[in-house]
Amino acid sequence: MSDHATVNAAVLERPGAPLAIERLVLAPPRPGEVRVRMLASGVCHSDLHVRDGDWERPGPIVMGHEGAGLVEAVGRGVESPRVGDTVALAWLIPCGTCRSCRSGRTWECPVSPSYRHQMLDGTTRFRRPGGDPVLAYCAISTMAEAAVVPALAAIPIPEGLDPAAAALIGCCVATGVGAVTKTAAVPRGATVAVIGLGGVGLSCVMGAVLAGAIRIVVVDRVPAKLELARELGATDVVLADDVPASSLAALRDATDGGPDFVFEAIGLPATVELAIGALPVGGTAVLVGMTPYGVCASFEVFPFVDGSRRILGSNYGFAEPPIDFPRYARLALDGRLPIERLVDRRISLGDVEDAFDRMRRGEGVRQVIVF
Ligand code: APR
Ligand code: ZN
Ligand code: ZN
Repeated sequence: MSDHATVNAAVLERPGAPLAIERLVLAPPRPGEVRVRMLASGVCHSDLHVRDGDWERPGPIVMGHEGAGLVEAVGRGVESPRVGDTVALAWLIPCGTCRSCRSGRTWECPVSPSYRHQMLDGTTRFRRPGGDPVLAYCAISTMAEAAVVPALAAIPIPEGLDPAAAALIGCCVATGVGAVTKTAAVPRGATVAVIGLGGVGLSCVMGAVLAGAIRIVVVDRVPAKLELARELGATDVVLADDVPASSLAALRDATDGGPDFVFEAIGLPATVELAIGALPVGGTAVLVGMTPYGVCASFEVFPFVDGSRRILGSNYGFAEPPIDFPRYARLALDGRLPIERLVDRRISLGDVEDAFDRMRRGEGVRQVIVF
């Protein structure tokens, strides 16, 4: 039993319930798995969707899907990562055999084993002291002092990044930067709008700067977020009010009739409709924000078809973690992707419910649990 560890972890008993910090027993890594000493875990809006019951998930489950840490043990047969490596964790491991995976579009894998919230062998390494198993969110459960994860999810990144920034590579940075540079492949000189400036939307802004967009218009209802976006490279800001029509006019004014690309990073019908409605002829709306299940949005079909407009869905910024995570980390180390600017509050594990409250109020950008 000596290689079993005891760790503090944020556990969701069932969707809709508050998270509770529990002492759990963590079994050692089996073949193909590694144990990661967590250094930091972001609190993402997707965690709030699960916490509030917008999406069905099984429980009890250790939450968190945006983290970075140090590899402290590896199971039999694991060649990468190695003990001592700094890793960012990927929340989607491709199944490897579905049609998407076979065609190399691993980010859209609908049957990823990560979505079973267990290790690849269908069991979990977390137990309550009484013996009951506890699941691991997306198989990486970053809201724990340490976690056993599939080796495939633990992606080595260059050393030297602030752990809080490294953690964000695993979700919001990959999602936002990838939506711009991979899903949309925004060309140099394009005009871009970003609606919603949380960790995901601000990562879209950083991606647009990297891509060489000539205008970057941002929309949010919180003035401080508009200011931060401006510091990151936004050229025009629009304070959203309750009248979507005024945001629409402001978006068009700033971009000579409408942005070539609009990124929606909230997941609300009204802002999805704003994104599509703002498109000029030939424009592309990229939907990045996730809604609760069952939510619909609508648009007028004739001008959409007549103007050859496009709507793209972007899951996880088309991330290929083994290639993209070290690349994003390198860009951050070189000062070209200022991820640390998104970290607005460092908290401890016990503050996670308070972090959700602030997120519901739209306060703060990325709150990061540091261990
Ligand atoms: N109009 C304008 N801005 C809004 C509105 C609105 N009606 N509602 C919310 N916002 C802004 C908030 O002020 C905040 O800046 O949208 C931003 C959302 O940011 P976060 O809550 O931090 O969310 P984030 O983690 O960035 O995720 C965004 O992407 O992956 C999905 O599930 C995730 O749906 C979520 C979305
Ligand atoms: Zn996330
Ligand atoms: Zn697959």
